Amino acid sequence: MRNEKNAEGKEEVLEEEERIVSGELSTEERDLDNTLRPRRIDEFVGQIKVKEHLDVLISAARNRGEVLDHVLLCGPPGLGKTTLAGIIAAELGVSLKGTSGPAMERAGDVAAILSNLQAGEILFIDEIHRLNRQIEEVLYPAMEDFKIDIVVGQGPAARSIRLDVPRFTLVGATTRTGLITSPLRDRFGMTARLDYYNEQELEAIITRSASILDVGIHKEGAAEIARRSRGTPRIANRLLKRVRDYADVKGDGTVSGATAAKALSFFEVDDKGLDKLDQRILLVLIDKFKGSPIGLNTLADAVGEEPQTIEEVYEPYLLQLGFLKRTPRGRVATERAYEHLGKEMTDEARLF
Ligand SMILES: Nc1ncnc2c1ncn2[C@@H]1O[C@H](COP(=O)(O)OP(=O)(O)O)[C@@H](O)[C@H]1O
Ligand SMILES: [Mg+2]
Repeated sequence: MRNEKNAEGKEEVLEEEERIVSGELSTEERDLDNTLRPRRIDEFVGQIKVKEHLDVLISAARNRGEVLDHVLLCGPPGLGKTTLAGIIAAELGVSLKGTSGPAMERAGDVAAILSNLQAGEILFIDEIHRLNRQIEEVLYPAMEDFKIDIVVGQGPAARSIRLDVPRFTLVGATTRTGLITSPLRDRFGMTARLDYYNEQELEAIITRSASILDVGIHKEGAAEIARRSRGTPRIANRLLKRVRDYADVKGDGTVSGATAAKALSFFEVDDKGLDKLDQRILLVLIDKFKGSPIGLNTLADAVGEEPQTIEEVYEPYLLQLGFLKRTPRGRVATERAYEHLGKEMTDEARLF
């Protein structure tokens, strides 16, 4: 997160702890993710269509003794992409090697990773939209024909030789489908798009997590947390943990509906699940720029956050709630956002 001040030097910087949504995960959050991660497909709540498709693909591959087709998982952070990659491996009974787009720097690295895979293994590439071009080109023949081209020798004596690599399954995850080049996208046998979860599904996830973490929770408590989890399991789990802390300190440790509601207002998560940064984004659009359309960079500057984080982490949910609109001239807050924040929409703002 950035610490620079904006043009007016006025905005104070929000600490990571004040957020319920964050771009980068801390070690503690990663540990929580891992503890609560479902291992098998029947523990994975919701996303019914995706699960059905995967199930068919997995069973077919298993029955024929073939390697699973490459799978691309898309969707906003915290919806279960990494979890599903692990589940695919577990259901196939194979191991998974994980890496990420930005971590793969040289063609040689990829060649080494691919040649060291065991047949049938899964190579999981997180943030696959951040692969560089050169690496993508090594991946094309590897995905298609399980071959890589490597250059041996130097200068005029240099030549390219084609080597076999073990048959493997590539599972890619991305928060930005739009940034994946079409030659890469075309090489996946299946693309699964994860959607935000509904309240019942989140309630089920929270109840499951509470039992793993040994937290006493009432149905109303789980429902209250679910309502404010912005459709995202990772956030549901994070809120559960905070509510538990609150219940331990201020109550008897049990999460009732009332305790959850009090805890969440205490942590400044509003009844739509917006945290301070979401609210600030909307307030900047409404108050500071008086409702006129604002470009991403200006908006990011004004709230003190990276443009990429605003676009990938915050905006999808604000768009989903219908609080934000992307117009050709820039971002604007919608009437619904004005209402939610108790603001009057000016006639001028209505024009955008
Ligand atoms: N469908 C689900 N059912 C239960 N828990 C889930 C589900 N999806 C995600 N989670 C939980 O949410 C957390 C974040 O999921 P993760 O797979 O890391 O998301 P992503 O990789 O999409 O950012 C994990 O702890 C996982 O346990
Ligand atoms: Mg992930």
